[in-house]
Amino acid sequence: MNYRHAFHAGNFADVLKHVVLARILTYLARKDGAYRVIDTHAGAGLYDLWSDEAQRTGEWEAGVGAVLRAALPPEAEALLAPWRAALDAANPQGITDGLPRHYPGSPLVAKVLSRPQDRLVCCETEPGVRSALVEVMKGDARAKVLPVDGWQALAAYVPPKERRGVVLVDPPFEQAGEFHRLAEGLKTAHGRWPGGVFALWYPIKDIRAVDAFRREIAHAQIPKTLRIELDIYATRQADRLSGCGMIVVNPPFTLADELRVILNALAPVLAADGKGRVRVGWLMPEH
Ligand SMILES: C[S@@+](CC[C@H](N)C(=O)[O-])C[C@H]1O[C@@H](n2cnc3c(N)ncnc32)[C@H](O)[C@@H]1O
Repeated sequence: MNYRHAFHAGNFADVLKHVVLARILTYLARKDGAYRVIDTHAGAGLYDLWSDEAQRTGEWEAGVGAVLRAALPPEAEALLAPWRAALDAANPQGITDGLPRHYPGSPLVAKVLSRPQDRLVCCETEPGVRSALVEVMKGDARAKVLPVDGWQALAAYVPPKERRGVVLVDPPFEQAGEFHRLAEGLKTAHGRWPGGVFALWYPIKDIRAVDAFRREIAHAQIPKTLRIELDIYATRQADRLSGCGMIVVNPPFTLADELRVILNALAPVLAADGKGRVRVGWLMPEH
């Protein structure tokens, strides 16, 4: 496997994914009952934006860097506060001039936003990445870091005993057939836990693969399936991400409206053309 998230940490795709995760966790915390986060492809949890990898691509500068430099409308700022809390936790020395030294990955966002009663399961198969994540989660009795195949976890770890929670599925998308695998994984996991929140991230690069994926999910007739997409280029780019999306099953009822506010504010900041395109809507027409 070649994929290393350290090259991409904090880019526009990470911002979208982590803001969505932070809003879901904020909603789940409205009730006292414990929830569980299952992060099937967890990554290292914390990324050094001054590392060789991050500096080589510079992707974070047009992602989290651009967001921190922007003057956003107050209603968008308010909704971004939980994600910003994770950024602050990743940068205990403070963030100067909108330049963070570290960027929190999904397990750290979940760790920061979760309460004492909540639980977190992180699967990561790359030994070096997993060791880094173990270090980030060290001393937190709520969290387990497992050397388990995330695709197996997706089916095997649901429903959790808390019966509330979210499964984040964020694979590297470097193997053929990963869209189909994602759709199949969702169908199986949703069959076992129809009430769970499932958040699936996907790249928008090969538009035919994305269309086929959306059709496959729609065909599965899973109710309450929200589609969230952000394009950062006006025209499709052959060699790079044009955008990215998320499918969220059983989203908090507040999520679609919140994301319209957030993404309409973030799209011009994150987009290469200064505009960007946002789509937030139900996959099944009856919703
Ligand atoms: C896109 S990154 C995850 C980023 C992370 N979710 C975040 O938002 O910070 C994908 C991760 O999945 C790991 N991975 C690849 N195949 C896996 C598998 N079958 N099971 C679990 N982890 C896997 C990779 O090593 C990589 O760290």
